Amino acid sequence: MRGPLPAAAVALLLALAGCSRPLPDADSPAAVAYAQQCGLCHPPHQPSSMTAEMWKIQVARMMEMRTRRGLPPLTAAEQQVILDYLTSHAG
Ligand code: HEC
Repeated sequence: MRGPLPAAAVALLLALAGCSRPLPDADSPAAVAYAQQCGLCHPPHQPSSMTAEMWKIQVARMMEMRTRRGLPPLTAAEQQVILDYLTSHAG
């Protein structure tokens, strides 16, 4: 059985984008930086899925993940942009 193509195409695009919902302020530079840097190893998580306090811990943990994978660390400024974005949309 075949569903209507547009719906299937949209579902595929969403699956490829790795998230079922768009990120808040998806076009802002901070959101783009977040999606790029934090979408390298897994799809970026929704900012609302964690509290600001949890994001602080996760961003620090993920710097270790980068090191383990041989990726260069993010600069303090990059981390701050991402953390500010996450905390301002935190749950
Ligand atoms: C180098 C690869 C890599 C990058 C880059 C990366 N992560 Fe992760 N992330 C992982 C792995 C591997 C896991 C699963 C293992 C774990 O949670 O310990 C994970 C899990 C997570 C989880 C789930 C934790 C949980 O308790 O469910 C969150 C949230 C997360 N990452 C956020 C981020 C954020 C925010 C960034 C950007 C600052 C980021 N990740 C960048 C590798 C990465």
